Amino acid sequence: MNPNLDRLQPYPFEKLRRLIAGNIPPGHLEPIQLSIGEPQHLMPRFIGESLTAHLKSLAYYPATLGSQELRESIATWLSWRYGLPPLDPATQIIPVNGSREALFAIAQCVIDSRRPDATVLCPNPFYQIYEGAALLAGAAPVFVNHLPEGGFVANLDALPEATLAATQLVYVCSPGNPTGHVLRIEEWRRLFELSDRYGFVIASDEGYSEIYFDEDNPPIGALEAAHRLGRPGYRNIVIFTSLSKRSNAPGLRSGFAAGDTRILKEFLLYRSYQSSQMNPAVQAASAAAWGNETHVAENRHLYREKFDRIVPMLAPWLGVRRPEAGFFLWARTPVSDTEFARRLHAEYNVLVLPGSFITHEADGINPGAGFVRIALAAAYDKCMDAAERIAAFCQKL
Ligand SMILES: Cc1ncc(COP(=O)(O)O)c(C=O)c1O
Repeated sequence: MNPNLDRLQPYPFEKLRRLIAGNIPPGHLEPIQLSIGEPQHLMPRFIGESLTAHLKSLAYYPATLGSQELRESIATWLSWRYGLPPLDPATQIIPVNGSREALFAIAQCVIDSRRPDATVLCPNPFYQIYEGAALLAGAAPVFVNHLPEGGFVANLDALPEATLAATQLVYVCSPGNPTGHVLRIEEWRRLFELSDRYGFVIASDEGYSEIYFDEDNPPIGALEAAHRLGRPGYRNIVIFTSLSKRSNAPGLRSGFAAGDTRILKEFLLYRSYQSSQMNPAVQAASAAAWGNETHVAENRHLYREKFDRIVPMLAPWLGVRRPEAGFFLWARTPVSDTEFARRLHAEYNVLVLPGSFITHEADGINPGAGFVRIALAAAYDKCMDAAERIAAFCQKL
């Protein structure tokens, strides 16, 4: 067996399952899950219609690079969304089956594990795939704290020179899961400078970019920052995003990677061996989805309504604020995060994720200890019901 498999952590949801294993929540309260970031708003109808209209395409093997139509639709969206000059759909975009597999695959593609010090920087808290991807690529993950006191900004300059010199890949999550932090242009500038100095690749995980609250101020992305900072060819940058949150279609498994052609060329080679091509009917539906903004704006409106109501209900108890983007509340708990989550489930039948299940201790601090992640991804009424129960639970505490 691959010995690196032993280094993988149990998945956060497996840890949660174990935490609540002995609980018998009150039967009269409907169970409400705010632990998992699975959007529960309706998927737009046209996605299903497009899927069924293209069933005949299942008779053919699709290409790893995906259809021209899909890549053109993505290129148009990227230019429109981020004010970028036209992208080349042939060399700057690769469709992927959801960003998760691609975020994993990029580490397998870029890490040179012949170097015994191969290092991958991950945010802390982090999406669990970053850690698993680094370990299975034969690299060591190094966790960089994102703390509320520091405005959730990663202080890369505090890292030892040897760590930066050994870094081959940096995962960035903006908008952040779970913090909601959106990297400022100055943060990107510093990251690009360090990438130039040490040669690492930046994998920018941007799946929450379309869930924001100020219509006039959408989150900036890595390609946009690179363009604005005059970084030709998006050197050493690859972004990853998907339709999962933007179009409420997590089961569609549809996203893309875009950026530096030099890296994408190698990534395509890697994918032609490792990855499954995207189902052609999914490609057609995805092309339609990237070309439609109406449903995305409507989706944002639903999130705005929920956050406007729920944040004031929970702020007095859990110190929450509306995130800059994304659909998570990163809430400070009055007791330990695991006790909070376990008892909230046992007494009120509401599930949230203990922060320490998505963090590690780094520099003597565990940024998830004493926090829970609350995903306001369920329907409005369920979220409101859950918020009332959480407030009642906090009052009791
Ligand atoms: C931070 C982050 N990145 C990536 C993903 C993967 O999403 P998908 O594979 O649906 O694009 C998720 C899913 O919840 C996530 O929270």
